[in-house]
Amino acid sequence: MAADEPLVLGIETSCDETGVGIVHGTTLLADAVASSVDTHARFGGVVPEIASRAHLEAMVPTIERALKTAGISARDLDGIAVTAGPGLAGALLVGVSAAKAYAYALGKPLYGVNHLASHICVDQLEHGKLPEPTMALLVSGGHSSLLLSADITSDVRPLGATIDDAAGEAFDKIARVLDLGFPGGPVIDRLAREGDPAAIAFPRGLSGSRDPAYDFSFSGLKTAVARWIEAKRAAGEDVPVRDVAASFQEAVVDVLTRKAVRACKDEGVDHLMIGGGVAANSRLRALAQERCERAGIRLRVPRPGLCTDNGAMVAALGSEMVARNRPASDLELSADSSLPVTDPHVPGAQGHAHEHDHSHDHDHVHEVSKENLYS
Ligand code: KG4
Ligand code: ZN
Repeated sequence: MAADEPLVLGIETSCDETGVGIVHGTTLLADAVASSVDTHARFGGVVPEIASRAHLEAMVPTIERALKTAGISARDLDGIAVTAGPGLAGALLVGVSAAKAYAYALGKPLYGVNHLASHICVDQLEHGKLPEPTMALLVSGGHSSLLLSADITSDVRPLGATIDDAAGEAFDKIARVLDLGFPGGPVIDRLAREGDPAAIAFPRGLSGSRDPAYDFSFSGLKTAVARWIEAKRAAGEDVPVRDVAASFQEAVVDVLTRKAVRACKDEGVDHLMIGGGVAANSRLRALAQERCERAGIRLRVPRPGLCTDNGAMVAALGSEMVARNRPASDLELSADSSLPVTDPHVPGAQGHAHEHDHSHDHDHVHEVSKENLYS
């Protein structure tokens, strides 16, 4: 760890985790996470207003906890990075406001970064600098994409994405049908270990020879699983939950790994990075390892705690921004709930040049911010 490497604090509030991480170069010093997931569990999904309020309450204590763990003072920092999007508008706004306040009060540069690029960059904390280009399979509750990145701070190219549900969303919905609670990924992962992945032949979405090679679809699978369960229940039979979990999970990870390995081969890339909450899945990790080994591809997957949302990933990307002399964001930086994956770095109002229509997102941001401030 060189003394001149950047010391960066990262703030993540795009969904239900208030994450604050501190990194020095590519060394992780602190990773503090406060989750409001238990509060959402009884609603079967994340309730945006509850998430925003929880972020507001957890923000300062989580920052203080991270600083204490890292054994540093906020004054020592070289920069403050924050998830500017994509995510829940009101939730993002809490993190962006906090980051601006700290940056302004401390006189430190602010870096608005992309949540998806952060999910990729976090791997640097565990496996060192990302090779360039890097092929990344990004699988979370809101996204499933194959991305090719020549430079994680400036160049992220989508090769394919889900045309309907995200992989994590499919796990969450099937868990709901099986009455397993929320979030669904971890419990399905656990039950599937005791089930037979070949028990039920569920469909593999978009896997025909004429289907797009790198796009994903999980909604047909979700419907097939739900119908299969309904039919069992209608016949008065017990649902073999472990076999359903294992067979469903196998259908998801089979398609994900097959397409990711194919993309590596087609693009001549010998590394595959897997990130996002679903990358915590044990079967996805094992099958990816098996298929990558067979294809001569080196697999990089962060440990499960760094795959799900956290602040360390934001700090990791912020640190890379500082190391590569990317311009800091200005204090006009706004939360952008639909920030495109192609924008790893958000310069702020002056440099903000997206072509897609943001009018609706911004209305929503204002609405939620008012509620947080006055109610
Ligand atoms: O990246 P993440 O923490 O938040 C988003 O940005 O969406 O991902 C959350 C998603 C949820 O859908 C959750 O069910 C899924 O990741 N997940 C898993 C596992 N752990 C979390 N899915 C499958 N297996 C797991 N072990
Ligand atoms: Zn995420």
